[in-house]
Amino acid sequence: MMKYMKRTICICLLATILLLQGCLGAPGGVVDTGKVPPSTRAPSVTEYHLNTKYTYRTQVKEEMLVTGLHPDYLLLASKSYPLGKGYAPKMLVTLENRILTSWHQSEKIQLEARAATALYAMLAEMEADGVTDIKVTSAYRGYQYQYNLYNKYVELEQKGISQEAYQYFGKTYIQTNYIDRGIACLTESDAILVVGSYSAPAGASEHQTGLCVDFITAGMAGELTEAFASTEAFAWLSQNAYRFGFILRYPKGREDVTGYRYEPWHYRFVGREAATDIYFGNLTLEEYLGH
Ligand code: DAL
Ligand code: ZN
Repeated sequence: MMKYMKRTICICLLATILLLQGCLGAPGGVVDTGKVPPSTRAPSVTEYHLNTKYTYRTQVKEEMLVTGLHPDYLLLASKSYPLGKGYAPKMLVTLENRILTSWHQSEKIQLEARAATALYAMLAEMEADGVTDIKVTSAYRGYQYQYNLYNKYVELEQKGISQEAYQYFGKTYIQTNYIDRGIACLTESDAILVVGSYSAPAGASEHQTGLCVDFITAGMAGELTEAFASTEAFAWLSQNAYRFGFILRYPKGREDVTGYRYEPWHYRFVGREAATDIYFGNLTLEEYLGH
């Protein structure tokens, strides 16, 4: 009888563990919620693009920037609407070394084909305007790449108490829970919370769409920080990115909507019509899609 009960308890425990794993997903990954993200603009959005006159210094094939608001380019990838493990962009192209940071030149950095065309057009116009200190440091990232990246960040955050941790929790929390207790490193659960404010778990990153790029300048010493917001490149992008179909995806002060802290370096291709409406409407992609 005892033997039978022990076996039943063991089976129950095993089933609970498996169930929990199924609910929580693998560490660093997300479970596909099955929710379908909105992929057309919300009815209330002002169509600024209809009355915008676009002029370019360089030879720009405008039809390449116009998507007709195709749902493929309005794809929302976020913590609320993860893409899951299986999603891959339909057509990726490898970016030319000349636009990449030197440390990425032996890697194959890819971007969705239409987004890449728009990116080259945008960089050419920037150059014509005299802005040359800008490189691409990240573009398409597959599920596994993001999985490793996210987990690396979680490990790193547990090696001390970063600036990001101070910003996320506030000084008082860190003082009370760590400094006053003589604890020098974040716990794993706190590390996960901090990382969640700047990195997507695998399956939830917009980089998996192949539609976004991270920029960096030579002066930033390889570190993606808010220092990018003080560069000439950022000033140019702030004024002009929409003309090439790109939006600043994680704006300052919109963390509650996007789920991420300010990323002045991260630009998302949505097509010229949507980018113009988002830019002049001062919207996030979530708001544009009525989410
Ligand atoms: N840094 C952005 C949020 C990402 O990891 O996709
Ligand atoms: Zn990014």
